[in-house]
Amino acid sequence: SVAEKIEEATQSDNKSLIRETWEMIAGDRKNGVELMALLFEMAPESKKEFRRLGDISPENIPNNRKLNGHGITLWYALTSFVDQLDNKNDLEDLCRKFAVNHVSRGVLNVKFGWIKEPLAELLRRKCGSRCEDRHINAWWKLIDVICAIL
Ligand code: HEM
Ligand code: HEM
Repeated sequence: SVAEKIEEATQSDNKSLIRETWEMIAGDRKNGVELMALLFEMAPESKKEFRRLGDISPENIPNNRKLNGHGITLWYALTSFVDQLDNKNDLEDLCRKFAVNHVSRGVLNVKFGWIKEPLAELLRRKCGSRCEDRHINAWWKLIDVICAIL
């Protein structure tokens, strides 16, 4: 259930693992575009959901300003999740609001789950050896909250 997923994601050790790695990557909003590029590479089926963003081929990504705008927005969305870890109700309400934007586009739990491996790869790239499997699992628990709502 959603409540169980929230309970798991907000355990104090889980929160620390998320925050430890988030501190290392949060400062660079451009990481949002990099996460999107990883999603397109690792889950190519996802590309067809993003028609509004125009040419998202790897060569064009650095020039794609719609993708840049989306990447920045996405990064602030992640910030807002991490900021609500201390309050379960706020986290749930935010996740529900966030889910509406995805459900309205037909992005339900299976498609949303496509972000897990790209997110793991981004964390490994940016945090190097300081990102262990337990950090990745901690992030996946946060993603699972949204998947449970979708
Ligand atoms: C939704 C920000 C001003 C009408 C939103 C959302 C954000 C936002 C972040 C959620 C985006 C989404 O769900 O896609 C702001 C900011 C504002 C501002 C930063 C100015 C400082 C206004 C004004 C109006 C307005 C002046 C109308 C007079 C709406 C409406 C929604 C919305 C109708 C959709 C609400 C919903 O159904 O969830 N706004 N907004 N906003 N905003 Fe604004
Ligand atoms: C739009 C965040 C994962 C599909 C958005 C928006 C945000 C966001 C903030 C803009 C909200 C709006 O315009 O209504 C995130 C975050 C994710 C994530 C933080 C995970 C960490 C995914 C995944 C998919 C997806 C995995 C598809 C497989 C979409 C689509 C849009 C969207 C199609 C609309 C894009 C557009 O036309 O502007 N996402 N998203 N998202 N998201 Fe996500």
